[in-house]
Amino acid sequence: MKQRISEKFRTLFSEEGDFFASAGRINLIGEHTDYNGGFVFPGAIDKGMIAEIRLNGTGTVRAFALDLDEYCEFGMNEEDAPVQSWARYIFGVCREIIKRGGKISGFDTVFSGDVPLGAGMSSSAALESTFAFALDNLFALGIDKFELARIGQSTEHNYCGVKCGIMDQFASVFGKKGHLMRLDCRSMEFEYFPFDPAQHGYRLVLLNSLVKHELVGSPYNDRRASCERVAKVLGQEFLRGATMEQLEAVKDKISEEDYMRARYVIGEEKRVLDVCEALGKGDYETVGKRMYETHWGMSRDYEVSCEELDFLASLAEESGVTGSRIMGGGFGGCTINLVKEELYDGFIAKAKSAFAEKYGHEPIVIDVVISDGARKL
Ligand code: GLA
Repeated sequence: MKQRISEKFRTLFSEEGDFFASAGRINLIGEHTDYNGGFVFPGAIDKGMIAEIRLNGTGTVRAFALDLDEYCEFGMNEEDAPVQSWARYIFGVCREIIKRGGKISGFDTVFSGDVPLGAGMSSSAALESTFAFALDNLFALGIDKFELARIGQSTEHNYCGVKCGIMDQFASVFGKKGHLMRLDCRSMEFEYFPFDPAQHGYRLVLLNSLVKHELVGSPYNDRRASCERVAKVLGQEFLRGATMEQLEAVKDKISEEDYMRARYVIGEEKRVLDVCEALGKGDYETVGKRMYETHWGMSRDYEVSCEELDFLASLAEESGVTGSRIMGGGFGGCTINLVKEELYDGFIAKAKSAFAEKYGHEPIVIDVVISDGARKL
């Protein structure tokens, strides 16, 4: 990938730049908890984004998206916002840095990535983090790592229309090889957990249904709004910390739909903590059970699954897979599966054939390798 970027960069800009990279992420458990002030448990993966960047001494950004074969030029003032959605991520990062007082100017860039788009693996966070990290480095801005993550998150909010939480950008910036991270999204305290399922005889694998999820303008923001309404009725800033008893007590003051959304979130908060504790004891069976509970909670109460992902999770359950669930924001994308080594080949073969028979194509199998986050290459 680096080679291809480099060739294009030379053709377009007849110079050489510096290389920066960042990662997509998986999330073992803790879905739709981040914007509720709860816990998440993600890790960066070995798929991400690479960009070659060189300052050009002008006020203009000249960017080429290698995978889309598209070029775009834009200035850095609010009215210069490009129309291409990929360019808006880069523009948004520039704007958010400027709003925070960062002095930056134009640059040339060519970038490419291998995180599947719309698969719930945070391709957009990888893009934002790469540029936030790179601009901080190239202009010696001294922005701390949490702020780099927030710059990516604000880009989504203000330039891409998704009121996302902080999980994806956090994972993409802070990721560490061989480790998951439990982040408390209220206090922003986090802890690295060594994670090596192979040592315990398990494998972690994603099955991409290829149903494209599109969070922009999607019911994602509606889910967040439901949670905020319930938190308000409970007199809390976030749903975090609310109990089922408290929720029951306000049931007649909220809609049936808001009730279901909050029920899922309250359950999920407990599941993340259970999973962290179980992992510490090497108890992968409990980890897997909670994953299934999350799946069906996301499907039935939060209603962010789809037929194809329910099919894959059910198939996993029938095949004796330890844990399986929809991963990320939902509305399509992947399931994440915790599979015993001895069941792996059989399960993958069955998932491919059964899925293809029903939906006309096989799911894409992605073995998870937990890797480093944003960095200069
Ligand atoms: C998307 C968002 C995250 C998070 C997940 C669901 O990936 O970007 O902030 O809310 O969905 O857990």
